Amino acid sequence: MKGIILAGGTGSRLYPLTLVTSKQLLPVYDKPMIYYPLSVLMLSNIKDILIISTPDDILKYENLLGSGEELGISITYEIQPSPEGLAQAFMIGEKFIGDDACAMILGDNIFYGGGFSEVLQRAIDNAENGYATILGYYVENPERFGIMEFDQDWNVISVEEKPKIPKSNYCITGLYFYPSGVAKEAEKVEPSLRGELEITTLNDRYLKKGKLKAEILGRGFAWLDTGTMDSLMDASLFVQMVEKRQGVMISALEEISYRKGWISKEKLLENAGKYGNSPYGEHLKKVAEGILKY
Ligand code: DAU
Repeated sequence: MKGIILAGGTGSRLYPLTLVTSKQLLPVYDKPMIYYPLSVLMLSNIKDILIISTPDDILKYENLLGSGEELGISITYEIQPSPEGLAQAFMIGEKFIGDDACAMILGDNIFYGGGFSEVLQRAIDNAENGYATILGYYVENPERFGIMEFDQDWNVISVEEKPKIPKSNYCITGLYFYPSGVAKEAEKVEPSLRGELEITTLNDRYLKKGKLKAEILGRGFAWLDTGTMDSLMDASLFVQMVEKRQGVMISALEEISYRKGWISKEKLLENAGKYGNSPYGEHLKKVAEGILKY
């Protein structure tokens, strides 16, 4: 199973914040935004990851995350010359994906909540068995998102991108799992009226073949898209609140690697040193010392 993080785009809704940096590198409370989606792929046990970003920004990601060796994973990088749509990621990543199943997560999506690992495992099992999986989340403003409609047994019956008259309030979040062959399938996607290779069109292709499943992220689960000033601020406040109240750190990458046994205690401590006396570095030290058990 491979994983792609799409971290391109212009970030124009966040100007001037994103005039000289990539949106997915902006801080979300105590770490760069991309740490959150990367942690989701790692929690899915995906160790072979491709990061796609703009020609201007790709080097910044390489400087931040390197080859992934420090995390016990492999990270490679590709450029998206211009933002022509989310489905383009699979064409850019065709060689990287090879014959494997592949997940994709948008670099500006944050997921947090109990039971997530089980949801991820089901999505991976689906992908290994020839099915695509999308993840639904109840929203109050469905016209802003990709939306899925269900029958009474929670089977998906339609998917639409930013519908004027939404058929449900269940948004399709920016985390997708596909079986082997997704690059070939993405090549068949025609540009939409707004000129983009829409991920929703790709999902509709799987739906029409009877190969699309959905998982619903229920009550108590937090999904945050950080695309606007307010949602970016909300995401920081959410992470701050959870971390302070619960004494945990959301999306500490080295902690995930260590708990999964991908890096040793020595490596964890070495990595912690890299972060100096920041709260992130201090947290990693506590994990290594066994003070934090969960
Ligand atoms: O966040 C979930 C939503 O993401 C889904 O509900 C929608 O179905 C999906 O189309 C997408 O909607 P957005 O309006 O958020 O898409 P946006 O064009 O803003 O792109 C999402 C992220 O991907 C954004 O951080 C920029 C990046 N991007 C976008 C495009 C079109 C790329 O890196 N390359 C691209 O070509």
